[in-house]
Amino acid sequence: MKRKKIIAGNWKMNHTVTETSGFINEFKRNIADVDGVDIVLCPTFTSLQIAVDLTQNTNIAIGAQNVHWSKNGAFTGEISPSMLLDIPVAYVILGHSERRQYFGETDETVNMRLKSTLTTPLKPIVCIGEKLDERESGITEKIISGQLNDGLKDITAQQMNDIVIAYEPVWAIGTGVTATPEQAQEVHAFIRNLINEKYGVNVSESIRIQYGGSVKSKNADTLLTQSDIDGALVGGASLDCNEFVNIIRSAE
Ligand code: PGA
Repeated sequence: MKRKKIIAGNWKMNHTVTETSGFINEFKRNIADVDGVDIVLCPTFTSLQIAVDLTQNTNIAIGAQNVHWSKNGAFTGEISPSMLLDIPVAYVILGHSERRQYFGETDETVNMRLKSTLTTPLKPIVCIGEKLDERESGITEKIISGQLNDGLKDITAQQMNDIVIAYEPVWAIGTGVTATPEQAQEVHAFIRNLINEKYGVNVSESIRIQYGGSVKSKNADTLLTQSDIDGALVGGASLDCNEFVNIIRSAE
Protein backbone atom coordinates (compact mmCIF):
# COMPACT_ATOMS: atom_id res chain seq x y z
CA MET A 1 0.00 0.00 0.00
CA LYS A 2 1.20 3.47 -0.87
CA ARG A 3 1.19 5.68 2.21
CA LYS A 4 1.47 9.45 1.84
CA LYS A 5 4.70 10.64 3.43
CA ILE A 6 4.45 13.05 6.34
CA ILE A 7 7.31 15.38 7.25
CA ALA A 8 6.94 17.30 10.50
CA GLY A 9 9.25 19.93 11.95
CA ASN A 10 9.53 19.99 15.73
CA TRP A 11 10.93 23.37 16.67
CA LYS A 12 11.10 22.50 20.38
CA MET A 13 11.77 25.65 22.46
CA ASN A 14 13.04 27.74 19.56
CA HIS A 15 11.84 30.81 17.61
CA THR A 16 9.95 33.83 18.91
CA VAL A 17 6.76 35.03 17.24
CA THR A 18 8.81 37.42 15.09
CA GLU A 19 11.23 34.69 14.06
CA THR A 20 8.33 32.33 13.33
CA SER A 21 6.71 34.77 10.94
CA GLY A 22 10.00 35.44 9.16
CA PHE A 23 10.60 31.72 8.74
CA ILE A 24 7.11 30.87 7.53
CA ASN A 25 7.01 33.66 4.95
CA GLU A 26 10.15 32.28 3.33
CA PHE A 27 9.24 28.62 3.86
CA LYS A 28 5.80 28.77 2.29
CA ARG A 29 7.18 30.36 -0.88
CA ASN A 30 9.83 27.66 -1.18
CA ILE A 31 7.48 24.70 -0.87
CA ALA A 32 4.36 26.09 -2.53
CA ASP A 33 4.72 23.62 -5.41
CA VAL A 34 5.17 20.53 -3.21
CA ASP A 35 2.39 18.07 -3.73
CA GLY A 36 1.85 14.58 -2.36
CA VAL A 37 3.60 15.10 1.01
CA ASP A 38 1.91 16.12 4.25
CA ILE A 39 3.91 19.02 5.71
CA VAL A 40 3.55 19.86 9.39
CA LEU A 41 5.29 22.54 11.42
CA CYS A 42 5.21 22.44 15.24
CA PRO A 43 6.28 25.74 16.78
CA THR A 44 6.02 26.69 20.47
CA PHE A 45 2.61 27.49 21.98
CA THR A 46 3.28 31.23 21.75
CA SER A 47 3.87 31.01 17.99
CA LEU A 48 0.91 28.78 17.11
CA GLN A 49 -1.54 31.56 16.30
CA ILE A 50 0.76 33.47 13.95
CA ALA A 51 1.82 30.18 12.34
CA VAL A 52 -1.81 29.21 11.66
CA ASP A 53 -2.63 32.68 10.36
CA LEU A 54 0.34 32.73 7.99
CA THR A 55 -0.34 29.24 6.60
CA GLN A 56 -4.02 29.71 5.73
CA ASN A 57 -4.67 28.21 2.27
CA THR A 58 -1.20 26.70 1.96
CA ASN A 59 0.05 23.10 1.95
CA ILE A 60 1.41 23.51 5.51
CA ALA A 61 -0.42 22.22 8.59
CA ILE A 62 0.44 23.45 12.08
CA GLY A 63 0.93 21.25 15.13
CA ALA A 64 1.53 21.79 18.84
CA GLN A 65 4.25 20.03 20.81
CA ASN A 66 2.11 18.84 23.70
CA VAL A 67 -1.41 19.00 25.13
CA HIS A 68 -3.03 18.25 28.47
CA TRP A 69 -5.80 15.65 28.81
CA SER A 70 -8.29 17.83 30.70
CA LYS A 71 -10.79 20.17 29.10
CA ASN A 72 -9.80 22.96 31.51
CA GLY A 73 -9.03 23.50 35.18
CA ALA A 74 -6.31 24.09 37.73
CA PHE A 75 -3.30 22.87 35.73
CA THR A 76 -0.90 25.81 35.76
CA GLY A 77 1.24 25.98 32.65
CA GLU A 78 -0.82 23.51 30.61
CA ILE A 79 -2.88 23.85 27.41
CA SER A 80 -6.07 21.91 26.60
CA PRO A 81 -7.18 20.29 23.32
CA SER A 82 -10.02 22.80 22.92
CA MET A 83 -7.52 25.67 23.21
CA LEU A 84 -5.51 24.20 20.35
CA LEU A 85 -8.65 23.67 18.27
CA ASP A 86 -9.74 27.22 18.84
CA ILE A 87 -6.60 28.53 17.06
CA PRO A 88 -7.10 26.07 15.11
CA VAL A 89 -4.16 23.68 15.22
CA ALA A 90 -4.31 20.42 13.23
CA TYR A 91 -1.71 18.12 14.85
CA VAL A 92 -0.15 17.56 18.25
CA ILE A 93 3.05 15.73 19.22
CA LEU A 94 2.58 13.43 22.22
CA GLY A 95 5.14 11.71 24.42
CA HIS A 96 8.27 13.20 22.89
CA SER A 97 11.35 11.75 24.62
CA GLU A 98 12.27 15.19 25.99
CA ARG A 99 8.85 15.36 27.67
CA ARG A 100 9.48 11.90 29.09
CA GLN A 101 13.04 12.72 30.18
CA TYR A 102 12.62 16.22 31.65
CA PHE A 103 8.93 16.53 32.49
CA GLY A 104 8.08 13.15 33.92
CA GLU A 105 5.85 11.88 31.15
CA THR A 106 5.10 8.19 31.14
CA ASP A 107 3.26 5.83 28.83
CA GLU A 108 0.30 6.26 31.14
CA THR A 109 0.15 10.06 30.77
CA VAL A 110 0.80 9.73 27.04
CA ASN A 111 -2.23 7.44 26.90
CA MET A 112 -4.36 9.97 28.81
CA ARG A 113 -3.31 12.76 26.44
CA LEU A 114 -3.93 10.50 23.45
CA LYS A 115 -7.43 9.47 24.49
CA SER A 116 -8.38 13.06 25.16
CA THR A 117 -6.92 14.21 21.83
CA LEU A 118 -8.82 11.52 19.94
CA THR A 119 -12.14 12.90 21.14
CA THR A 120 -11.30 15.98 19.00
CA PRO A 121 -10.28 16.50 15.36
CA LEU A 122 -6.62 16.99 16.44
CA LYS A 123 -4.28 14.41 14.88
CA PRO A 124 -1.77 12.98 17.34
CA ILE A 125 1.85 12.15 16.51
CA VAL A 126 2.81 9.62 19.19
CA CYS A 127 6.56 9.36 19.88
CA ILE A 128 8.27 6.19 21.03
CA GLY A 129 11.91 5.07 21.09
CA GLU A 130 14.58 3.32 23.09
CA LYS A 131 17.51 4.84 24.99
CA LEU A 132 21.13 4.00 24.22
CA ASP A 133 21.61 1.65 27.18
CA GLU A 134 18.40 -0.15 26.24
CA ARG A 135 19.61 -0.69 22.69
CA GLU A 136 23.01 -1.81 23.94
CA SER A 137 21.48 -4.33 26.29
CA GLY A 138 19.40 -5.76 23.44
CA ILE A 139 15.97 -4.80 24.76
CA THR A 140 14.92 -2.35 22.03
CA GLU A 141 11.95 -4.50 20.96
CA LYS A 142 10.80 -4.98 24.53
CA ILE A 143 10.88 -1.22 25.15
CA ILE A 144 9.06 -0.42 21.90
CA SER A 145 6.33 -3.00 22.49
CA GLY A 146 5.87 -1.78 26.07
CA GLN A 147 5.52 1.84 24.91
CA LEU A 148 3.04 0.82 22.21
CA ASN A 149 0.96 -1.42 24.46
CA ASP A 150 0.72 1.09 27.30
CA GLY A 151 0.70 4.30 25.27
CA LEU A 152 -2.03 2.99 22.94
CA LYS A 153 -4.01 1.21 25.67
CA ASP A 154 -7.77 1.06 24.88
CA ILE A 155 -7.34 2.74 21.50
CA THR A 156 -9.61 1.20 18.87
CA ALA A 157 -8.74 0.22 15.31
CA GLN A 158 -10.98 3.03 14.11
CA GLN A 159 -9.05 5.56 16.21
CA MET A 160 -5.72 4.19 14.98
CA ASN A 161 -6.57 5.65 11.57
CA ASP A 162 -6.09 9.15 13.00
CA ILE A 163 -2.72 8.46 14.63
CA VAL A 164 0.81 8.94 13.33
CA ILE A 165 3.59 7.07 15.13
CA ALA A 166 7.09 8.58 15.35
CA TYR A 167 9.92 6.18 16.06
CA GLU A 168 12.72 8.24 17.56
CA PRO A 169 15.65 6.37 19.08
CA VAL A 170 16.59 8.62 21.99
CA TRP A 171 20.32 8.18 21.29
CA ALA A 172 19.81 9.73 17.83
CA ILE A 173 17.93 12.84 18.94
CA GLY A 174 19.97 16.01 18.69
CA THR A 175 23.20 14.00 18.75
CA GLY A 176 24.11 14.04 15.07
CA VAL A 177 24.11 10.22 15.25
CA THR A 178 21.37 8.87 12.98
CA ALA A 179 20.13 5.31 13.04
CA THR A 180 21.32 3.64 9.85
CA PRO A 181 18.50 3.15 7.34
CA GLU A 182 18.69 -0.59 8.09
CA GLN A 183 18.48 -0.07 11.88
CA ALA A 184 15.52 2.27 11.46
CA GLN A 185 13.76 0.00 8.95
CA GLU A 186 14.16 -2.98 11.28
CA VAL A 187 12.34 -1.20 14.12
CA HIS A 188 9.72 0.30 11.80
CA ALA A 189 8.90 -3.17 10.46
CA PHE A 190 8.71 -4.45 14.04
CA ILE A 191 6.27 -1.66 14.96
CA ARG A 192 4.10 -2.31 11.90
CA ASN A 193 4.05 -5.99 12.74
CA LEU A 194 2.93 -5.29 16.31
CA ILE A 195 0.17 -3.05 15.00
CA ASN A 196 -0.86 -5.79 12.59
CA GLU A 197 -1.12 -8.31 15.42
CA LYS A 198 -3.20 -5.99 17.51
CA TYR A 199 -5.34 -4.13 14.97
CA GLY A 200 -5.17 -6.14 11.75
CA VAL A 201 -3.66 -5.58 8.36
CA ASN A 202 -5.85 -2.69 7.24
CA VAL A 203 -4.64 -0.51 10.11
CA SER A 204 -1.03 -1.68 9.98
CA GLU A 205 -0.73 -1.08 6.24
CA SER A 206 -2.26 2.38 6.36
CA ILE A 207 -0.75 3.83 9.55
CA ARG A 208 2.17 6.14 8.98
CA ILE A 209 5.37 5.65 10.97
CA GLN A 210 7.83 8.53 10.93
CA TYR A 211 11.50 8.24 11.78
CA GLY A 212 13.09 10.92 13.96
CA GLY A 213 16.60 11.51 15.23
CA SER A 214 19.17 13.71 13.49
CA VAL A 215 17.38 13.67 10.14
CA LYS A 216 19.18 16.05 7.76
CA SER A 217 18.91 16.72 4.04
CA LYS A 218 21.97 14.53 3.46
CA ASN A 219 20.52 11.41 5.11
CA ALA A 220 16.82 11.93 4.37
CA ASP A 221 16.84 10.18 0.98
CA THR A 222 18.16 6.85 2.21
CA LEU A 223 15.93 6.84 5.30
CA LEU A 224 12.79 7.80 3.39
CA THR A 225 13.22 5.10 0.75
CA GLN A 226 12.98 2.31 3.37
CA SER A 227 9.73 0.44 2.89
CA ASP A 228 8.30 1.04 6.37
CA ILE A 229 9.50 4.63 6.87
CA ASP A 230 6.65 6.98 5.99
CA GLY A 231 8.15 10.30 6.86
CA ALA A 232 10.29 12.14 9.36
CA LEU A 233 9.97 14.10 12.57
CA VAL A 234 12.73 16.66 12.22
CA GLY A 235 14.14 18.69 15.09
CA GLY A 236 17.32 20.72 14.56
CA ALA A 237 17.22 20.64 10.76
CA SER A 238 13.68 22.06 10.69
CA LEU A 239 15.01 25.34 12.11
CA ASP A 240 16.93 25.92 8.89
CA CYS A 241 14.54 26.78 6.08
CA ASN A 242 16.69 25.40 3.24
CA GLU A 243 17.49 22.19 5.11
CA PHE A 244 13.85 21.60 5.93
CA VAL A 245 12.74 22.32 2.37
CA ASN A 246 15.33 19.87 1.05
CA ILE A 247 14.13 17.14 3.43
CA ILE A 248 10.56 17.71 2.25
CA ARG A 249 11.73 17.47 -1.35
CA SER A 250 13.43 14.15 -0.56
CA ALA A 251 10.06 12.85 0.60
CA GLU A 252 8.49 14.02 -2.63
P1 PGA B 1 16.66 16.13 15.97
O1 PGA B 1 15.32 16.01 16.85
O2 PGA B 1 16.24 16.07 14.53
O3 PGA B 1 17.25 17.44 16.34
O4 PGA B 1 17.52 14.97 16.34
C1 PGA B 1 14.28 15.14 16.48
C2 PGA B 1 13.17 15.25 17.47
O5 PGA B 1 13.45 15.43 18.66
O6 PGA B 1 11.99 15.15 17.11
